[in-house]
This record gives sequence, C-alpha cells and structure tokens, in this order.
Amino acid sequence: MIHVESLTKIFRTHVKQPGLLNSVKSLFHREYTEFVAADSVTFSIEEGALVGMLGANGAGKTTTLKMLSGLLHPSSGIATVMGFIPWERQNEFRRNFSLVMGQRNQLWWDLPAGDSFLLNKEMYRIAEHDYQQRLKEMSERLDIADKLHVQVRKLSLGERMKCELIGALLHYPKVVFLDEPTIGLDIVAQHSLREFIAEFNKEQGTTIILTSHYMDDIEALCKRVILMDEGKIQYDGALSALVDQFSSEKILTIMIDQEIEHDAIPNNHYVSEIGKDHITFKVPKSEIAQITSHFLAHFSVRDISISEMPVEEVIREIFSGKNINS
Ligand SMILES: Nc1ncnc2c1ncn2[C@@H]1O[C@H](COP(=O)(O)OP(=O)(O)OP(=O)(O)O)[C@@H](O)[C@H]1O
Ligand SMILES: [Mg+2]
Repeated sequence: MIHVESLTKIFRTHVKQPGLLNSVKSLFHREYTEFVAADSVTFSIEEGALVGMLGANGAGKTTTLKMLSGLLHPSSGIATVMGFIPWERQNEFRRNFSLVMGQRNQLWWDLPAGDSFLLNKEMYRIAEHDYQQRLKEMSERLDIADKLHVQVRKLSLGERMKCELIGALLHYPKVVFLDEPTIGLDIVAQHSLREFIAEFNKEQGTTIILTSHYMDDIEALCKRVILMDEGKIQYDGALSALVDQFSSEKILTIMIDQEIEHDAIPNNHYVSEIGKDHITFKVPKSEIAQITSHFLAHFSVRDISISEMPVEEVIREIFSGKNINS
C-alpha cells in the first residue's frame, strides 16, 4: 500500500549573521546551510497495517509524512501510496487519503464542526445516507455528538481533536496519517481517541501511520514501529523485538523473607530498589544466573521474577543517545 525508497529531504536555509552590515552583505552574497531532515528513508507498509513512527523531536517524522502526503517534494528518492506518487497530487489519491496533524487545525475555526463536515461531504461526494450514518456513529463513539453545533474556536482541545478526526475520516480514506493526534490531551480523551483509531483501522481495513510521543498510544495500537533518528530509520520491526534488540538489561526481582543491608547484596551496583521483602535489579542478562544462584545459596528466597525493561524506558534511553547495548 505504501512503498518508500531512499526518500530524502534536504532543507536549504539562508543564514544571515546578525547586524546591519551583515544584512547589507547578505543582499549581495547569500549564504546557505543545508539540513538533511529525511535521509534515505526506505520502508513498505502493507494494506490494513497500523504502524507507529517514533523518534525524538526533529527526527524527521513529520517531514517524511508530509512527503508521503504530497505536501512536500522530496529532494530525491521515490514513494508510492496506493500506487500514486503523492506529490503529483492526483484527485484519486486525495479522495482516498487523509492527514491529521495534532498541532494544526484543519477545521474552519469560525464554523461549527458540523458545517465543516458538510463541506467535506460535498468535496468528497459522500452520499447523504452514508454521511448521516457515519457521522452519527463516529460522533457517538467519540461522545461528541452534542458539540457539533458549537463554533470550533470555542471547543476544548480534546473536543476539537475528536472533531478533527471525524472530519478527516468521514470519506473513509484508505490511507491515513495521524501526526501526534493525542498531543496535549488528557488521559481520558487519549484513551477514547486510541480506542476509536483501533476500531476504525480494524473495521475499515484502513492503512494507518501514527506518530506519537506517548508510548501508551504506540503500545496500545502498533505492533510494528519505525524508529527515526536524525532523519534515518534506526529500527523497523516488531515493537516487542525492539526491547530485545536495544536493551541488554532485564529487571530481576528476588522476593526474600529477611531484610538485607545494601552492602551484603552481591553486584549491588545493579540494584534499583530495596524493599522490606524484595530486591530489584536492573541487570545485564549475562549476570542474572550468577546473582540468582548467590541468593539461592545464601538467603531464603521466596520467589524470583525476571521481566523485560519497560518499552518506555528503552525508548527513552535510545532517544537520549545512550547506547544501552554496549
Ligand atoms: N521548512 C523547513 N526548513 C528548514 N528546516 C526544516 C523545515 N521543516 C523541518 N525542518 C527541520 O527538519 C528537522 C525534522 O523536522 P520534523 O518536523 O520532521 O521532525 P519530527 O520528527 O516531526 O519532530 P517532532 O517530534 O518535534 O514533531 C528539524 O530539525 C526541523 O527543524
Ligand atoms: Mg513532528
């Protein structure tokens, strides 16, 4: 459904040193710097998949989605979405596509959302019956039916995002990009949007790329993630395998019957928490056997559990540039 090969975007920006003299100079001699926002991005997504795109601020996620939406021309590389080249902006492509940007409003600010929806109905030529039925179902699911007649500018952020989403999906696009759709929303609204997106994807078989800085969104919705860093894809695969690949540490919890002094614990530099009846280690896989056998030999152990590092923590460490694999 989506094929991307060596897609690259280089932004060329004019640099001007501060000061009047430099302003005059720059009239005659302009200096430019080049910035590679997307660097040979390559991936494919099959029909119906819901793929998460992760990356720190400035990693190139929005730039990539803008190219795949036809809003930006790439500097080089190729991409097809539903068989169309997005930046050719053919009508058939636009009729079957939608982009939602959490940071940007697409509904008419001074109109009630319901009026914007009517415009979309005309633009996308949605049949009256389909329109009524879809609008009813979506607005009920998102619990927003009573706000469709209120001017968009008067809605709360969460209410507005719900309306944005309905507006973007009324024509049942085959491909949807959601760029931070839950940004700034409270937990309840995030949850409701998440559920709605999951159901829409499942029921309509829509192909979706989602970016979010909230790991809860990604964990709840996406089996596959594409991780970007400085314009490049760092990882593309199962979310579960990401933890395997990037984290060589595990969480080891030993339940004991007695309290142990910190100094008496073997490998105590790996200890992350000491409780009355348990000790928790954040420890390289290779050290687990040694620590547990020491405990079994010297203390009365009630239980031992070994778990993966939380995805959120792994991602945080990848983003902060700490190489946790070495
Ligand atoms: N029009 C532009 N001109 C110059 N540089 C740009 C332009 N648009 C984006 N950039 C730069 O490209 C880089 C990637 O930006 P992009 O918006 O794709 O990041 P992102 O991964 O979406 O980040 P965030 O998580 O903050 O939304 C940034 O360093 C940004 O400053
Ligand atoms: Mg962005």
